[in-house]
Amino acid sequence: MSPNTRIILICSGKGGVGKTTLTANLGIALAKQGVRTAVLDADFGLRNLDLLLGLENRIIYTAQEVLEESCRLEQALVKHKQEGNLALLPAGNPRMLDWLKPEDMQRIVSMLAEQFDYVLIDCPAGVEDGFKNAASATNEAIVITTPEISAVRDADRVIGLLNTNGIKPIQLVLNRVRPKMIASQEMLSVDDVTDILALPLLGLVLEDEQVIVSTNRGEPLTLRGSRSPAARCYGNIARRLQGEEIPLIDPSKEGKGLRDKFRRLMATKIF
Ligand SMILES: Nc1ncnc2c1ncn2[C@@H]1O[C@H](COP(=O)(O)OP(=O)(O)OP(=O)(O)O)[C@@H](O)[C@H]1O
Ligand SMILES: [Mg+2]
Repeated sequence: MSPNTRIILICSGKGGVGKTTLTANLGIALAKQGVRTAVLDADFGLRNLDLLLGLENRIIYTAQEVLEESCRLEQALVKHKQEGNLALLPAGNPRMLDWLKPEDMQRIVSMLAEQFDYVLIDCPAGVEDGFKNAASATNEAIVITTPEISAVRDADRVIGLLNTNGIKPIQLVLNRVRPKMIASQEMLSVDDVTDILALPLLGLVLEDEQVIVSTNRGEPLTLRGSRSPAARCYGNIARRLQGEEIPLIDPSKEGKGLRDKFRRLMATKIF
């Protein structure tokens, strides 16, 4: 295993808060920066990463056959059509859940780490075996949550488990942020969430309908250099992961007029 490979678990506890979307967009954004990136779909029960990346028709083998040694890793990896630095290792049959052990995940991740600079693991929701297996194979984590009480509470639980496993660093991504709702105090603010979870904030992702459009097309927003709000957010998260210092701001503290606030945020590109 390359000692320099970053193995990052993308997890949340609560389902449907944006793990797979973040994994796909970060994977593309990192690959665009010239970084060899593997994305591993560890959501064996309900795999989706292949769809979001538009690679579902090109899957021949999966992590299952690699573990069973009925194919080589290279045969199972699906290279992205436009971004050659990105490869997907698809999740196998859901029946894998009956026998998969932490050692299996560790084996597959160390194989990936020999060839890639980043391994991003799309974690299943929950804190059961699927999460535990994936967590056992990683050394750092991104916890993603939306600014909803239930999601934040689940994230808190996950952070506790990651800490117990000695996973470090753990960084936070706050997804589906709506400045208008924060301003009218209908949504938890960024400060509220970071105070509760006590994690460094890697970035915010704005609520953006283009995310849904891109999901349906199987083309992550970061693929074609979209200028949509969420695309910029994902791009900045990738750059911060790479060590670039891009200042963070709290949309709830920006000026009074909401429209002005939005314009300023867009102009500064610093979500
Ligand atoms: N910033 C955003 N703006 C608008 N929609 C979003 C945003 N982020 C995610 N979504 C939408 O939320 C839904 C859930 O996203 P996603 O599948 O990435 O979540 P998940 O955490 O991987 O879910 P699961 O726990 O089921 O694996 C998708 O329909 C996605 O398009
Ligand atoms: Mg998912």
